Amino acid sequence: MSESQQDGQDLGNRRYEPPEEFAKNANVNDPSVYDKANQDYEAFWAERARELHWFKEWDQTLKWDPPNVEWFVGGKTNVSYNCLDYQVEQGKGDKTALLWEGDEPGDTRTFTYSELLTEVQKFANVLKGLGVRKGDPVSIYLPMIPEVAIAMLACARIGAPHSVVFSAFSPGSLRDRVNDCEAKVLVTANQAPRGGRVSKLKENADKALKDTPSVENVIVVRRLDEDAPMTEGRDRWWDDVMGEADAGCPAEEVDSEDILYILYSSGSTGKPKGIVHTTGGYLTHVKATTKWVLDLKDDDVYWCTADVGWVTGHSYLVYGPLANGGTTVMFEGVPSYPENDRWWDIIERHKVNILYTAPTAIRAFMKSGTEALEKHDLSSLRLLGSVGEPINPRAWVWYHENVGGGRCPIVDTWWQTETGAILISPLPGITTTKPGSATFPLPGIFAAIYDEEGNEVEGEGQGNLVITRPWPGMLRTLYKDPERYEQTYFSRYGKEVYFVGDGARRDAEGYYTITGRVDDVMNVSGHRLSTMEIESALVSHPAVAEAAVIGRHDEDKGQVPFAYVILEGNREKTDDLMKELRNHVGEKIGPIAKPQQVIAVDELPKTRSGKIMRRVLRGIAEGKEDLGDTSTLADPSVVDTLQEQAAAQG
Ligand code: WT7
Repeated sequence: MSESQQDGQDLGNRRYEPPEEFAKNANVNDPSVYDKANQDYEAFWAERARELHWFKEWDQTLKWDPPNVEWFVGGKTNVSYNCLDYQVEQGKGDKTALLWEGDEPGDTRTFTYSELLTEVQKFANVLKGLGVRKGDPVSIYLPMIPEVAIAMLACARIGAPHSVVFSAFSPGSLRDRVNDCEAKVLVTANQAPRGGRVSKLKENADKALKDTPSVENVIVVRRLDEDAPMTEGRDRWWDDVMGEADAGCPAEEVDSEDILYILYSSGSTGKPKGIVHTTGGYLTHVKATTKWVLDLKDDDVYWCTADVGWVTGHSYLVYGPLANGGTTVMFEGVPSYPENDRWWDIIERHKVNILYTAPTAIRAFMKSGTEALEKHDLSSLRLLGSVGEPINPRAWVWYHENVGGGRCPIVDTWWQTETGAILISPLPGITTTKPGSATFPLPGIFAAIYDEEGNEVEGEGQGNLVITRPWPGMLRTLYKDPERYEQTYFSRYGKEVYFVGDGARRDAEGYYTITGRVDDVMNVSGHRLSTMEIESALVSHPAVAEAAVIGRHDEDKGQVPFAYVILEGNREKTDDLMKELRNHVGEKIGPIAKPQQVIAVDELPKTRSGKIMRRVLRGIAEGKEDLGDTSTLADPSVVDTLQEQAAAQG
């Protein structure tokens, strides 16, 4: 590979047309969809909503009383009915709905639509038996096992909002989330195997349960054939209660605006935000984007690698694929166990057609080389997706060539927990893609770029990303905190404009590139710099596998960029190389962006969802002893190593 080919920025100028055959067969391939949606976006979304099953049609498509929104007002539907009964009615009873692969290779369980429907009805009856009624939140603290989807769908069936808490969260995080929504029931498991190791989930849950007064009952899945501490009168085994449960439980006819779930997401303060999603609009948006963007078809095997504990798992592992009658893969394990070819082995064995994953995973694979991939036949793949953070052009091209064999379109999908579903993304049968760009707002989505004063930036330019009209999957509020909802999203530019919190750049052809959170923006001598932009510059250097940049406080300049890098496999940490990297950034972006210091480290402090905790990096760069709460780190011990490495290179 030549120097210029390795260079991330140059790769960003490449263009990839939808392959002809792909375009011909794509669920959407007529570009006029954009115009139609522009002309009447309410009618556009109403047409999508009609693809769902409704017990009663809505009276009003949209009620927008900024910042409060309602979609399909007066309509009655049910998410569980749409994902199960409605599919069975259409003849999909014997089709595989859920294809589960456990931590150990070949440990699989499959559920047809009929089988899943039976399990969901039984668990819905279990919940009812415990006194759960419409509107009563249920907390779910489960790993990636079929029971998590069953529990979610059972809640949806009876109109009980679920609150899934990522199973690798600490007892303290679980406690806060259970207490915020005052769940009466917690669903968990005795143990959770992952990567050949076992976490004793019930013991964690018990620590949280010491301080969760609302919880009256705990249902425990026996994931491994082991015991667990059980509190008499409160805790019951899943198998026992399911064994006694009645198999018939008709779906509740819920209101379009009844809560489907609450999902907690970190904000800029310490207290997580309880993001509220409702029923009709959310499912409409999720179903349509799974079909349009992820191009899910009847005979596809579709794999979204996200954990159900995050919004991607909710929207695109469970609800989107099932609402379309698809086959969705759920994987309990990790990419490196038992060998580093595990993902490729899964794709080959299950003949996966669509893979939807995160740039952080792609970069990790890129770092370890193509050997593991080459052992497997990945020819079943036809579409690749990316989500969660900006994907740098070099990782994009690597994904395209090595995973997609050069034949699969990539959809770089931009959205957030708050948006419920994808807002900016290519349509794979229509859009010519450019590596690193999420391309265009989807039909029916109205994005814009505003400057600091609230003026719209027209044409080519950069600023704050905003959404100027409501969309169906939008969050409705923050649970029991409408003030924070308005303050966080609808105060920066007034009540009518959704403030995203991301920066974006639009090129002369209208392509959007997300430049990262605006809260990670730094100001160096009066110049605004995106940490992400400097990071992309660093990773465009062939010696760098991963980079994290923070703004370090500086007496003179306000802030200066400070960079942490992980080097490609065999590169040595030399002073010369660090200097070269500083200069490389200077060349890429301008001298102002040149990091004051670049230090090479072995690992970065990441949350379990793969997000870099910049707060910790800032603390280390500024030589702080107290780095605040580090309990949400995937591996809190990286902090000590980082401090040592920073001191050695300081
Ligand atoms: C933030 C939302 C989307 C579900 C998973 C994360 C960043 C997300 C992209 C993308 C660039 C992206 C944004 C966004 N982000 N997708 N394709 N390109 N950035 O959900 O935890 O709510 O995070 O992730 O910064 O605001 P989340």
